[in-house]
Amino acid sequence: MEVERDQTVSSPTIPIVDLSNLDKELVARAVVKASQEWGVFQVVNHEIPKELIQSLKKVGTHFFELSSEAEKEAVATPANSKDIQGYVTNSQQDIEDKVDRVDHLFHNLPPPTSVDYRYWPKNPPEYRQVNEEYARQVKKLAENILGWLSEGLGLDREALFNQGFGGGEKAVYTMKINYYPPCRPQANLVLGMQPHTDIHGLTLLVPNEIPGLQVFNDNQWFDVEYNPSVINILIGDPIWRMSNGKYKNVLHRTTLNTEKTRMSWVVLLKPPYDMVIEPLKKHTGDGDEAPKFEPITYGEHVERKVRDKLSKAVMSALLI
Ligand code: OGA
Ligand code: NI
Repeated sequence: MEVERDQTVSSPTIPIVDLSNLDKELVARAVVKASQEWGVFQVVNHEIPKELIQSLKKVGTHFFELSSEAEKEAVATPANSKDIQGYVTNSQQDIEDKVDRVDHLFHNLPPPTSVDYRYWPKNPPEYRQVNEEYARQVKKLAENILGWLSEGLGLDREALFNQGFGGGEKAVYTMKINYYPPCRPQANLVLGMQPHTDIHGLTLLVPNEIPGLQVFNDNQWFDVEYNPSVINILIGDPIWRMSNGKYKNVLHRTTLNTEKTRMSWVVLLKPPYDMVIEPLKKHTGDGDEAPKFEPITYGEHVERKVRDKLSKAVMSALLI
């Protein structure tokens, strides 16, 4: 099994990292290289059972396709809520607007300090157990990846998770399910999600079989191919800042399908809102590299990005 696709071929592809390789040095190097050059990679042989991922998709699809409006209302994000948790529908917006056209459900995952079961679908009944099991497994994977990324910065394995994300007590894991209904007839003109970099730290994504995710690298967009054995890993803004720009926060977007509904299950790893995000090397005392980023709390970073996005949406609406 290849660890990393040949980077010298004329049409490069998104790196694939085989986590079952016994040479962990090689795995670490592949993760670091992919994060530096692409900010996105796919992992295979990640030890999360195929059946568990299938169940995760099944219970989430059940919520979006079979729940009554009242059941969706029951977990809707309350008006004026500062918390992102809950169900929101944006898929039916005016076709001309350059806005995201996707319904989503956000809910935090355990640890119990951040979880709020009010936002978890009650139906199907196994929703909770499946999501809790997936959370347990995906967290191990996320923390392994942060370990390799820390080592790639010349830091201890725990540095990014503990100093950057607040460690096991404070780091927040959130499930986000995206639901993109088919869009006709102007689908080629319409994006499901506008180009963006992720506001949170690390993204672990599995889609359904409908393609749509695209990532930007070397001045062009690449399709992320569907492969049921992979988990897609994307680097977000906080890791870009913590690594002093060494790891790329990959620009990505999604397209819509004219016939079929696309869905994706995204686990996002976030620092707590009051955590200061800054280049970590500073703390080790041996980094002679000047920090490229001012310290900023994660909460302030989120507010700035949201303000920026709103003003861009208003601008594009005015320019049409
Ligand atoms: C996101 C995102 C991509 C997808 O939720 O931030 O980029 O494939 N999703 O749905
Ligand atoms: Ni994203």
